[in-house]
Amino acid sequence: MSFNTFGRLFRFTSFGESHGAAIGCVVDGCPPRIPLTAEEIQVHLDKRRPGQSRFTTQRQEPDAVKILSGVFADEATGRQVTTGTPIMLMIENIDQRSKDYSAIKDKYRPGHAGYTYDVKYGIHDYRGGGRASARETAVRVAAGSVARKVVPGLTVRGALVQMGPHQVDRSRWDWNEVERNPFFCPDPVQAKFFEDYLDGVRKSGSSIGAVIEVVAEGVPPGLGAPVYGKLDADLAAALMSINAVKGVEIGDGFASAELSGEDNADEMRMGNEGKPVFLSNHAGGILGGISTGQPIVARFAVKPTSSILTPRKTVDRYGNDTEIVTKGRHDPCVGIRAVPIGEAMVACVLADHYLMHRAQVGEGTAWPFEKR
Ligand SMILES: Cc1cc2nc3c(=O)[nH]c(=O)nc-3n(C[C@H](O)[C@H](O)[C@H](O)COP(=O)(O)O)c2cc1C
Repeated sequence: MSFNTFGRLFRFTSFGESHGAAIGCVVDGCPPRIPLTAEEIQVHLDKRRPGQSRFTTQRQEPDAVKILSGVFADEATGRQVTTGTPIMLMIENIDQRSKDYSAIKDKYRPGHAGYTYDVKYGIHDYRGGGRASARETAVRVAAGSVARKVVPGLTVRGALVQMGPHQVDRSRWDWNEVERNPFFCPDPVQAKFFEDYLDGVRKSGSSIGAVIEVVAEGVPPGLGAPVYGKLDADLAAALMSINAVKGVEIGDGFASAELSGEDNADEMRMGNEGKPVFLSNHAGGILGGISTGQPIVARFAVKPTSSILTPRKTVDRYGNDTEIVTKGRHDPCVGIRAVPIGEAMVACVLADHYLMHRAQVGEGTAWPFEKR
């Protein structure tokens, strides 16, 4: 039994390893007649691409995506659109440097997946982390950029909100700022601080963890289903499936344990447009596993990279105690490039639930009722 397919109605199956010839996926279930070009997908891939600043791995991958199937020119408009058939997306690996890994090929990096892959399969491609490498996440970003187009009016944005113990100041939150600094940080003051902070971490050959927040706006009410198809449960699983993620929160998350019932209540009033308005969003846009129409807010924590220069105790494949030092090109904080990956996974879950909602109950919502 293998598990390389994500989603139910909007689904993708990914393939590829860090140092193989290529990575890619087949997106199946995308509705027809949605305008889609490689350039649109590339915009999102370029955000995740390595080697763009001194704060991410120096591996130089253009991450140029090719659409190999599932699109055709629309006769009426001349635009390239989806045809409803499988969309194959492919990204070639260009800048593999496998010799970096020969010194550690028999040793397990504490915190990395080599040990468990060997325990399970008896073989693993150790070069660059093989299938456990974050190379695979480029494919998620590509699939996510298709997913974004499936839900009309959907916007999914992410930001790095904490690096190590240092959080952003939410009173300075500016979405425009996210595009301006190499950390996807919404707080310009903290972004400046992160420069020196991460330089220190990087130069010492160490690494550090982070927290990323993803906000989805324009999510129609009604997505998600009781009881095993809860939207929050699927979001948590999707974000948790990203490499290095160790925790997920929806809305107030763990902080809600400290709230009283009064403080946690998202009070409601009828707004001018005949739709209810929530006076707060502690729930993160989901009640009973179903979207309320408020922004969906999810946060996830990534652990520090296991590839560090400080010697660590480990064992080798043959059962010997040894030590390991990981040289080569690595991300000192994976939380930076995890921002577009988190956005992509949220978009994929929302597209999947949008199509499932439409399949079961059609467009729109059943509410409000006529007075009986
Ligand atoms: C964007 C991104 C970049 C990453 N870069 C590295 C890296 O340079 N070196 C490394 O050891 N791990 C890196 N990782 C983490 C490993 O892929 C991950 O820790 C490993 O597969 C073990 O899986 P787990 O942490 O989910 O248990 C990265 C993860 C992400 C999301």
